[in-house]
Amino acid sequence: MRKTPDLSEHVEWFRNSAPYIHAHRGKTVVVLFGGEAVDHEGFHHLINDIALMRSLGVRLVIVHGARPQIERQLKALNIQSEFDDGLRVTTAAMMPAVEQAVGQVRMTIESQLSMGLPNTPMADASIRVVSGNFVTAQPYGIRDGIDYCQTGNVRNVDANAIEAQLDHGNMVLASPIGYSPTGEIFNLRAEDVATDIAIALNADKLIFVMETIGVINKDGNSLHQLNLPQAEQWLQNHARDNPNISPQQAQDTQSHLNNAAHACRGGVRRVHLISRNIDGSILLELYTRDGVGTLVTADNYEGLRTATIDDIGGIMELIVPLEEQGVLVKRSREQLELDIHNFTVIERDGMIIACAALFCYETEKACELACLAVHPDYQQHGRGDELMQHIEWQARKKHMEQMFTLTTQTMHWFIERGFTETEPDDLPMAKQGLYNFQRNSKVLRKQLG
Ligand SMILES: CC(C)(COP(=O)(O)OP(=O)(O)OC[C@H]1O[C@@H](n2cnc3c(N)ncnc32)[C@H](O)[C@@H]1OP(=O)(O)O)[C@@H](O)C(=O)NCCC(=O)NCCS
Repeated sequence: MRKTPDLSEHVEWFRNSAPYIHAHRGKTVVVLFGGEAVDHEGFHHLINDIALMRSLGVRLVIVHGARPQIERQLKALNIQSEFDDGLRVTTAAMMPAVEQAVGQVRMTIESQLSMGLPNTPMADASIRVVSGNFVTAQPYGIRDGIDYCQTGNVRNVDANAIEAQLDHGNMVLASPIGYSPTGEIFNLRAEDVATDIAIALNADKLIFVMETIGVINKDGNSLHQLNLPQAEQWLQNHARDNPNISPQQAQDTQSHLNNAAHACRGGVRRVHLISRNIDGSILLELYTRDGVGTLVTADNYEGLRTATIDDIGGIMELIVPLEEQGVLVKRSREQLELDIHNFTVIERDGMIIACAALFCYETEKACELACLAVHPDYQQHGRGDELMQHIEWQARKKHMEQMFTLTTQTMHWFIERGFTETEPDDLPMAKQGLYNFQRNSKVLRKQLG
């Protein structure tokens, strides 16, 4: 009899990816990778992953760099480069090398995306890649007395032309080159090309596949998420002097984070900074729960953070009306003060507009999501979801295996987010004692482990 291999893990993994596959289908995503990625022996994996994203319905614009390839061409011609603040001064004599290097990288990418051999991940992928004069450039000019010659800036992106290609199901490939109305060719920073295309398209995501693992803090841990003000603060205070990374990596992080902040200010909602040195990082970032890099979000005026004692007044203003309506269980000010560090809040322009709390019962590896509330003026914009995801993330970090919540009027909201109804007897022991039978709340549970 044929032995059936145990593929349950694979099935489980695939099912867990389903919400992310649905969420990203039809979304416009700009992906940037440097010339280093193209040189790397594992480049075909990155290409396969990008092709898979395309097959899963993502509208993709790929932007590539070509710095090491340009460097090699210049070396072969015995031409020395000058850099100022990380930007190459591109003289007219360098342009043939730049054009050749960029052209070669582009052809390498196009050829890899055209592969379709049977028994490979690219079989039947049938990807149409389109490149073109989508980016108009202008000279970077003369700065501090240095003439940057053929180094340029993005002047304009032909968003309509790119959109038309995406509408036809084509993938767009953009190079770090732009043309001017005077017919000149300019050498551009690939990061700027990607950022300006993402802004012009109002892209849902911009992904920087870089050499470092996102943003690393001074303890050596990579930061999971930064909103725009946090990213700006990071750039001011921490970007350069970090003992955990090399100066080169610090510069890499700084320049990508700069671009991420610029993209957010320009209306791109989410910018992901991920490492090309983690195999499958782009799939892990988009199609798994936790991701592997740093997410920079465009929540300009809002911040999600752990509550402090100073927030008691703001939280009370938010929850007391709901307590009076019987939507939330009553909490005294004293209890709130004792529990304040369990609370996460969303602050907007100095006002607490949403909150939620996490209570963990360590021995049972179970926790409660409590006091979830969004100010009525700010509902329906995903803040409830954002808070719940954050609380879930905190719970998983604390190795909780199940999460409970009690509700009288919001049952369906939770059911639509993966909770199922259960009995008060299933609550952690300590919580059972606190269950208020008069309120007759529904008990809902979500499996985390
Ligand atoms: C429930 C609550 C936190 C959701 O916050 P939010 O920021 O509006 O949520 P999101 O934007 O992420 O989700 C909005 C969706 O939830 C739905 N929703 C809102 N309240 C709901 C409820 N009581 N039951 C079912 N669905 C509900 C909305 O209709 C909307 O669905 P749609 O996009 O399909 O139209 C918010 O409505 C609230 O504060 N309610 C009062 C307090 C409460 O009930 N807390 C939970 C008990 S612990």
